[in-house]
Amino acid sequence: MEQMLCRLLPAFSLFVVGLRLAAAAAAAATDGGDQFVYNGFAGANLTVDGAAAVTPAGLVELTNGTTLHQKGHAFRPAPVRLRAANNGTVRSFSVAFVFAIVSSYLDFSTHGLALVVAPTTDFSSSFTDQYLGLTNTTDNGKASNRLLAVELDTVQNIEFHDISANHVGIDVDGLSSVVAHDAGYYVDGGGGGSSFRNLSLISRDAMYVWVDYDGATAQINVTMAPITGTTAPAKPIKPLLSQVQNLSAVLAEPSYMGFSSATGPGNTRHYVLGWSVGTNGRPAPAIDVAALPKVPRVGPKPASKALEIALPIATAALVLAVGAAVVIVVRRRLRYTELREDWESEFGPHRFAYKDLFHATKGFRDTHLLGAGGFGMVYRGVLHKSGAAEVAVKKVSHGSKQGMKEFVAEIASIGRIRHRNLVQLLGYCRRKDELILVYDYMPNGSLDKYIHGGVGGDGTGLELLDWSQRLRVIKGVAAGLHYLHERWEKVVVHRDIKTSNVLLDRDMNARLGDFGLAKLCDHGANPQTTRVVGTTGYLAPELVRTGKATPLTDVFAFGTFVLEVACGRRPIRQDDHGDHVMLADWVLQHWHNGDSLVDAVDPRLRRGDQRLDEGQVRLVLKVGLLCSHPCATSRPSMQQVLQYLDGETPLPEMTRAELSFDMLALVQRKGLHVMSSCLCSSTVTSAGTISDLSGGR
Ligand SMILES: *[C@@H]1O[C@H](CO)[C@@H](O)[C@H](O)[C@H]1NC(C)=O
Ligand SMILES: *[C@@H]1O[C@H](CO)[C@@H](O)[C@H](O)[C@H]1NC(C)=O
Ligand SMILES: *[C@@H]1O[C@H](CO)[C@@H](O)[C@H](O)[C@H]1NC(C)=O
Ligand SMILES: *[C@@H]1O[C@H](CO)[C@@H](O)[C@H](O)[C@H]1NC(C)=O
Ligand SMILES: *[C@@H]1O[C@H](CO)[C@@H](O)[C@H](O)[C@H]1NC(C)=O
Ligand SMILES: *[C@@H]1O[C@H](CO)[C@@H](O)[C@H](O)[C@H]1NC(C)=O
Ligand SMILES: *[C@@H]1O[C@H](CO)[C@@H](O)[C@H](O)[C@H]1NC(C)=O
Repeated sequence: MEQMLCRLLPAFSLFVVGLRLAAAAAAAATDGGDQFVYNGFAGANLTVDGAAAVTPAGLVELTNGTTLHQKGHAFRPAPVRLRAANNGTVRSFSVAFVFAIVSSYLDFSTHGLALVVAPTTDFSSSFTDQYLGLTNTTDNGKASNRLLAVELDTVQNIEFHDISANHVGIDVDGLSSVVAHDAGYYVDGGGGGSSFRNLSLISRDAMYVWVDYDGATAQINVTMAPITGTTAPAKPIKPLLSQVQNLSAVLAEPSYMGFSSATGPGNTRHYVLGWSVGTNGRPAPAIDVAALPKVPRVGPKPASKALEIALPIATAALVLAVGAAVVIVVRRRLRYTELREDWESEFGPHRFAYKDLFHATKGFRDTHLLGAGGFGMVYRGVLHKSGAAEVAVKKVSHGSKQGMKEFVAEIASIGRIRHRNLVQLLGYCRRKDELILVYDYMPNGSLDKYIHGGVGGDGTGLELLDWSQRLRVIKGVAAGLHYLHERWEKVVVHRDIKTSNVLLDRDMNARLGDFGLAKLCDHGANPQTTRVVGTTGYLAPELVRTGKATPLTDVFAFGTFVLEVACGRRPIRQDDHGDHVMLADWVLQHWHNGDSLVDAVDPRLRRGDQRLDEGQVRLVLKVGLLCSHPCATSRPSMQQVLQYLDGETPLPEMTRAELSFDMLALVQRKGLHVMSSCLCSSTVTSAGTISDLSGGR
């Protein structure tokens, strides 16, 4: 579809055209002349070569910027007649065109483009770069070229005496301009004055150029103007260039008219958007700017102010969004990272996914905190994967990897322990520096609150256990500990028996929790310096001395536990003089002061009309004292404890003298020194005074 619009010629011209068709072509030369306009070149019949092409959008693309040192030409295939038929002089003509130079950089472009009037369309021998695809080193400037060019040059070339890197020049037969000026236009200032406005050829903006030749005066005017609206700009009154140049002595007849362009070491694209010509004194038709194709944009686009503002914001937003996404992904990863090693595969069934535990405890939220024990925080959680099972999740910080394998193996085996008086360990999870243990959830919390008073989950004060409940709790813990010591496949030393480690299930059954954990601290510690773990007041004297935990050190702690539950008193108390008094000493003191052992029982148990079975109380207190014996070998085994408590075996005869509270006090207070001198240890001899005390064993 040719966009070329041949202006309606006057009727006479039409007649002449008709004549021309019928007879000789020469007939038209006497009058008329050509006039054409391309409002874009879509479908136009142009002769193109080199890098030049007519784009689908209708642009003449002289160079396409894909390679360096390009040249390209686009000519109207039919020659234009410029000379008068009678005397052969070049008559007035006008050319208008719209061009744009698009460079990757806004401040740098390689070479420009030119409007060309030449005797040929074959520029195959021309050079690129500063030669603009018009001449070469041998023929540049030669009169035989019969060449007129109006160059729009973006490179200052010394060889051709270019005035700047942004100039417009009139060239005849070569690239050295006859006249040149910085690109721009004059604005009529009124009163004859005018001011110059610079234009940047490489601004990527489309610009309008007029080239007018007056045959009578042999004057060439070149004028340019920016395109601001959708209509052709008004032609500035003062031309940019005005030069007398008798083209009758230059141009050949016929001549071809078109455009030429070349690039150098840079990728620049040269475009012609529209073009119109009028010969034989006719004006060049106005180009319909609104109908012109758009200049393609490249790289960092200076285009609209809105984009200039929006683009950085959009970019920043994108960067932020991508950054945020990365942070979320990384945090998600970090949040759920676990430590998992090959050796753990055999403990697979006991392994929990951290993600599940994280969600079960709502991200280990404070509101889910059940308590903070010696080994870490305990959270209540609901495992949705296991049918909303309630669990207690214990986080144990554990920096050392040493011994972890053994510990996990132990955890896994402990996980197989099932006893109605032990808290069921369900499994574990490992993260860096952190071990997470999952236990059965014990809705009634720990025993200490029911002995010393406390607040339940609903915020109300808890009711203290009565005697029968306490007896049941003591028997339960004894059964659990007995199982750990003697009934299970391995001897498991609990190491941290105390009221806060005894939990109460739904049926107020006592369950011993946290077993094995104390050993973790051992594993983490330097094996050279065994650390004593456990809780003050429950520590057996020989444990303090040797650091070696045995079932008998558990029995000692159990003894303290029994006394604590029966008496409702903490294992260690400060007396009126500020001295620390051990509970066992305190009980012994009661016994010492006449036969008032039963008076040591929690006075709160006597409230109201509760009748205490004094025989039972005496038995329990005596078991507590026996278990708390400073001499390990004098303590009963858990098997014996159960038998004593059940009344199957009578307690060994114990007198006040046998359980000397003074000696006990001495041992408890002075610790190491006294103990080593009294020889009371797992290898006790009969020579010591204390070893005799238990009697009957
Ligand atoms: C660009 O022009 C070169 C000739 O200089 C040509 O080989 C190439 O195919 C053209 N590329 C495009 C995309 O038109
Ligand atoms: C283009 O113009 C030339 C010269 O006028 C002509 O020979 C050629 O057939 C035209 N091509 C088309 C496709 O119109
Ligand atoms: C040539 O002829 C044209 C008319 O065809 C006339 O306008 C012009 O002035 C003549 N030029 C010269 C130099 O005679
Ligand atoms: C320059 O172009 C002319 C034709 O215009 C050709 O004869 C000549 O060989 C070319 N010179 C070079 C150096 O290419
Ligand atoms: C136009 O630009 C040139 C350099 O590019 C500068 O020297 C000149 O002062 C400018 N003129 C105006 C009117 O801005
Ligand atoms: C060229 O410009 C001058 C003013 O500088 C004007 O007098 C003359 O008519 C113009 N010639 C053409 C062909 O536009
Ligand atoms: C231009 O040159 C031709 C001869 O080539 C001459 O006839 C004509 O008068 C000249 N025109 C002007 C305006 O000097």
